[in-house]
Amino acid sequence: MEVIKKISKMKEISKNWRREGLKIAFVPTMGFLHEAHLSLVRKAKELGDKTVVSIFVNPLQFGPKEDYKEYPRDTKRDLELLKNEGVDAVFIPEPEEMYPPDFQTYVEVTRLTTGLCGAFRPGHFKGVTTVVLKLFNIINPDIAVFGEKDYQQLQVIRQMVKDLNMDTEIVAHPTVREEDGLAMSSRNIYLSSDERKSATSLYKALLLAKKLISEGEKDPQKIKKEMEKFIHSFPFTRVQYIEFIDPVNLEPVKEINKPVLCALAVFVGKARLIDNMLIN
Ligand code: PAF
Repeated sequence: MEVIKKISKMKEISKNWRREGLKIAFVPTMGFLHEAHLSLVRKAKELGDKTVVSIFVNPLQFGPKEDYKEYPRDTKRDLELLKNEGVDAVFIPEPEEMYPPDFQTYVEVTRLTTGLCGAFRPGHFKGVTTVVLKLFNIINPDIAVFGEKDYQQLQVIRQMVKDLNMDTEIVAHPTVREEDGLAMSSRNIYLSSDERKSATSLYKALLLAKKLISEGEKDPQKIKKEMEKFIHSFPFTRVQYIEFIDPVNLEPVKEINKPVLCALAVFVGKARLIDNMLIN
């Protein structure tokens, strides 16, 4: 497995692979890898001839009061995990390599980023799309695999790829959960053992929404209230948002009469957790 720090080296390797007619599948990550990342890697390996994973905690997508500095990092362990998965190359640039002092170009998807996480994390998606576009330009992948846990991110990337006529195919991979339903996330490390118990409330609230809808409830406001009451019955929780949205354009729905995506963000202690469920 090649571990590459420099953009020029990464470009050279991917150019050579392309010249040989090999299909490159790519998984972008911010490291501190867990089973959900590894399932994206396995998907990528299935789809491509060469698999590239990037590890880069992207400063551009963190707000000034967010957890960029504390974001968990363990490169040595990450590299071991990726080697065991048979990854071909890991791109692991320094922030100065990605954003030299004269850096001044950004890419922004506008409408899809106004609601949900975008409403509470100004500039976040602009940081995500900018870094993903840069990574795509450097690695030039045929395929890139993204998790459905970050559903808004997935749709925003798809929109960018479509709007900018990019050639990379975006593949979505289902959310990977712990046994008790908690969606896997690097930020789960922030949870104390009591908070960890409360963190199961997100998935349980999504199941509650599914049950209410299957019983005939069509009013998102009523379901939201029930979900909020349920989540707040767990200690250390604070709901940031619960939304019922169209799964394609992410617009809020007023009445549930077709498949709907329920997405939520909840603080459990200092950890901000997100989850979602497509309810048919
Ligand atoms: O989902 C993530 O981990 C990040 O947002 C990504 C796509 C690696 C961009 O920094």
